[in-house]
Amino acid sequence: MEMKFSIQNLQPLTKDILDNVYKLYQDNEQFFRITKSDFENQTLGDTSFNPEFSLVLYPKKSDKPIAVLVGVVKKGYIKKNLIVKVFLVDREYRRKGIGTWMFKELLKRARQSLNIFSSVTYGFSPPQFLQPGVDVRHTSLLFFLQSMGLKRKKSRNNLTVHISKDLTEPKTYKYGFTLQRITPEFFSSTLEFVKKGFFAPTWSAEVELTFNFEKPTTFIALDENKNVVGFASHSTCFFSSFGPTGVLKSLRGKGIGGELLKWCLWDIKNQGYDTSTIMYVVGNTVAYYSKTVGAFIHPVHIPMRASILKWRNLY
Ligand SMILES: CC(C)(COP(=O)(O)OP(=O)(O)OC[C@H]1O[C@@H](n2cnc3c(N)ncnc32)[C@H](O)[C@@H]1OP(=O)(O)O)[C@@H](O)C(=O)NCCC(=O)NCCS
Repeated sequence: MEMKFSIQNLQPLTKDILDNVYKLYQDNEQFFRITKSDFENQTLGDTSFNPEFSLVLYPKKSDKPIAVLVGVVKKGYIKKNLIVKVFLVDREYRRKGIGTWMFKELLKRARQSLNIFSSVTYGFSPPQFLQPGVDVRHTSLLFFLQSMGLKRKKSRNNLTVHISKDLTEPKTYKYGFTLQRITPEFFSSTLEFVKKGFFAPTWSAEVELTFNFEKPTTFIALDENKNVVGFASHSTCFFSSFGPTGVLKSLRGKGIGGELLKWCLWDIKNQGYDTSTIMYVVGNTVAYYSKTVGAFIHPVHIPMRASILKWRNLY
């Protein structure tokens, strides 16, 4: 049976209703746990957050929301794209057409900000993203997006690391390099190092997010002249997530990256967590993490995308 709601039932996500929406998220998100402050950072705190593209559905005369859809419009390599960041319908209201109606409403609202080269994707919205695609365990979401015409692309892996109880404090020196938590005097040189050294346009913005924390969650390697030669960040996506990371090309293979990773895991462990998620790992880097810290592939994500032209008839 189809349920009829009108746009009067929709509210934008605001700080006032965040608690209730977070509760809806927690009650319905089976596999993924994030703190309220991470949920806030990833929604209201996203630099591209636009209340117009956030839909919270309330049935009549009730103060409990039953569905939430948060999209952002961000610049991709060529054009601006619509990326869905959070989407769920309360369990008892599923398969009644609510998701379809909300998704189309979001498309209608976002269309002015898009053009014919734009696409609609799920998940990966750097620098602030929760997941690099649809977690395959979110089966209903996978098939829902498929029903909306989004196509599956090549899978992307996150890795899980169980932080060893025996992990001891990592080294502060390695091969003559100093390893330390970043301090404000190295903020700009680290961002420069990341921008120059790595072909990943959003990494510096991801690293910069960690500078907002009381104790910034980026660790760096410095040479004897205090030049930055490596970095590793954690908790950019949600608390206990790991990445991005990188070491100067000429110094790779010496264990500097591994030691920086251990600093991050150590820092996460000291906050009472025993697990970390290494975000969006590609190619042989998976083997590297498996070897150094016993990481394993989990969870697997499938990016899903469609050209905005798919919904021509909505225009
Ligand atoms: C994905 C979701 C938002 C869809 O909302 P919905 O209101 O149930 O969607 P609709 O009723 O509009 O479904 C439209 C179509 O999607 C497909 N679909 C939806 N759920 C499905 C499922 N469990 N299995 C197979 N297909 C499914 C079907 O083709 C369906 O059409 P049909 O019911 O006529 O067969 C909802 O199922 C949900 O909240 N799932 C969990 C979300 C989640 O894990 N999100 C990740 C965290 S942000």
